[in-house]
Amino acid sequence: MTAITHSIHVFWSSSIGKKTVVAVTGLVFIGFLLAHLGGNMLLFAGEEAFNDYAKKIHSLGHGSVVWISRLVLLSSLILHVYATISLVRQNRAARPAYAFEADQRASKSSKIMIWSGLTVLAFIIFHILHFTVRTDPELAKIAKDSPYQMVIVGFQNWAVVIFYAVAMTLLCSHLSHGFSSVFQTLGFRSAKTRDLLDKAGKAYSGLILIGFLSIPIAVRIFGYGSN
Ligand code: HEM
Repeated sequence: MTAITHSIHVFWSSSIGKKTVVAVTGLVFIGFLLAHLGGNMLLFAGEEAFNDYAKKIHSLGHGSVVWISRLVLLSSLILHVYATISLVRQNRAARPAYAFEADQRASKSSKIMIWSGLTVLAFIIFHILHFTVRTDPELAKIAKDSPYQMVIVGFQNWAVVIFYAVAMTLLCSHLSHGFSSVFQTLGFRSAKTRDLLDKAGKAYSGLILIGFLSIPIAVRIFGYGSN
């Protein structure tokens, strides 16, 4: 074993090593979601603005930027889920047969994180098949001419809109807990910054919820894009 692989092994074996992996990959998603929301808000600037943006993103670095981002996101997702599962297993093995109240509270909160996380994971798979891979041939045809129209047509379906609403709500719950955990693990949470970080976490997850939900609501309920 080389010194580097030995250090990685020691890091991964420790609970703080895995927590750091969850936190750093969580930070990648926090940044990605803000950027994705910013881009999506261009839908409200009209068809031309949104399609120009979609075209620009895909042509950055002759298409390499999109692929590098996909690689970073996919590896972050795998590491985030894998490190979380290992942490839960490690904690379960270390826990004594009897459980204290605080321990039960902690496990309730991590149970919520696991279920909200799994729903978000299912959402991401559905979302990529829906808007990136475009398994619906009708939607794929529309997307060729206009990604804007793809989103408008994609949100005409009530079942899709309801699934998005449920997933966005659970994403918000996951983020509002995850946000402060990320900064705690990375050592930025102290008595002084605790309140500020909790407020920032709530503001951030609220922004993500309202921002992402505004699109299916505007399209399906208020007929945005169909007039
Ligand atoms: C109303 C909400 C949303 C809309 C309208 C939307 C729109 C889109 C569109 C149009 C694409 C296709 C990009 C392309 O291939 O050109 C896309 C891709 C993607 N979205 Fe969303 N999105 C929404 C919410 C979310 C959320 C909440 C997440 C994460 C939890 C997310 C994660 C992704 C990912 C990972 C991709 C794949 C990027 C790629 O590889 O191309 N999206 N989204």
